[in-house]
Amino acid sequence: MSDQKSAHEGSSRIGITLETFILEGMLGHPAATGTFTSILNQISFAAKLITSKVRRAGLVNVLGYTGSTNVQGEQVMKLDEEANAALLAVLGRRKHVAAVASEELDEIEVLTNDSRARYLVMMDPLDGSSNIDVNVSIGTIFGILKRQDPEVLVSANDFLKPGVELSAAGYIMYGSSTMVVLTTGKASGVHGFTYDPTCGEFFLSHENIKIPEKGSTYSINEGNHAKWPDEVKKWANWIKDDNKAEGRPYGGRYVGTLVADAHRTLLKGGIFAYPADKKSPEGKLRLLYEANPFAFIFEAAGGKASHGKGRILEIQPTKLHQRTPLILGSPRDVEAFEDFMTGKR
Ligand code: AHG
Ligand code: MN
Ligand code: MN
Repeated sequence: MSDQKSAHEGSSRIGITLETFILEGMLGHPAATGTFTSILNQISFAAKLITSKVRRAGLVNVLGYTGSTNVQGEQVMKLDEEANAALLAVLGRRKHVAAVASEELDEIEVLTNDSRARYLVMMDPLDGSSNIDVNVSIGTIFGILKRQDPEVLVSANDFLKPGVELSAAGYIMYGSSTMVVLTTGKASGVHGFTYDPTCGEFFLSHENIKIPEKGSTYSINEGNHAKWPDEVKKWANWIKDDNKAEGRPYGGRYVGTLVADAHRTLLKGGIFAYPADKKSPEGKLRLLYEANPFAFIFEAAGGKASHGKGRILEIQPTKLHQRTPLILGSPRDVEAFEDFMTGKR
């Protein structure tokens, strides 16, 4: 028997599931409380529901426009509404989440005013809608915020807190595989879990993700070049300059789904930028449920998240669906972008 592997040797290699990781407090103290664990597990359950819809999207006529438009004035794809409905149904099942702010809803959705509901969720249920019917990666983005005073009726104002106050943030990426990436902040780190559809579990696959100090890829929609302010044009030309000593030109990568572009930048380093331009003077991406969750994640992974001249997480929100310029990436790369925006370069 000595030269054969014991039958049990392999079994000790069973992966750590998302549920175990949270329950065993490996996501840090706030996650280990029953309520928080339950919310994160509800979100991972919703991820399974949405994954099954995404994987069949081309087959069950989920594609195509519903003919209605959302608060952004954009055509709403059916999958956006399905993802929104799935998340609301799952989050509303227990009395842990008082209300949800969603890209798909003009106003907040109050789930319960029960004082035991300690948390609020802001979410982009389906990010990258324009990529749904061309089979390109899409995602879900969420932030979890502690409710200030559970004795007071919940209102939209409860959501208007700077991103530094988030208790947790994460995203689901429906790519070649489905992944959940989440964090409760720098102390607990950023961790990725990959879905195994053969057993219906998310297994720890990327423990303690740290973004490289500097990268070699830049991600921006070059189609907006004519609309950019001069500082952005100067940065874009600089990043494409032939300067081997400084590691330029950077390679260009742009999917057009924030979750996909941000996930690649988080793992490989570099920079993602959606700056303000003539068409979107406030920027295109939404502060509460796109920029803040990713800014929270990137800072927890040692990266930076800027609106061009300062931290995203320090912005004091005034409206649920307000937009912001968003620059995410390796510290050195975001600092270089800010140097161009502030005229230092
Ligand atoms: P959503 O589908 O939730 O509206 O988000 C789309 C966003 C984001 O995913 C992406 O980074 C950005 O739109 C791409 O915008 P452009 O097509 O203007 O580059
Ligand atoms: Mn989005
Ligand atoms: Mn969306």
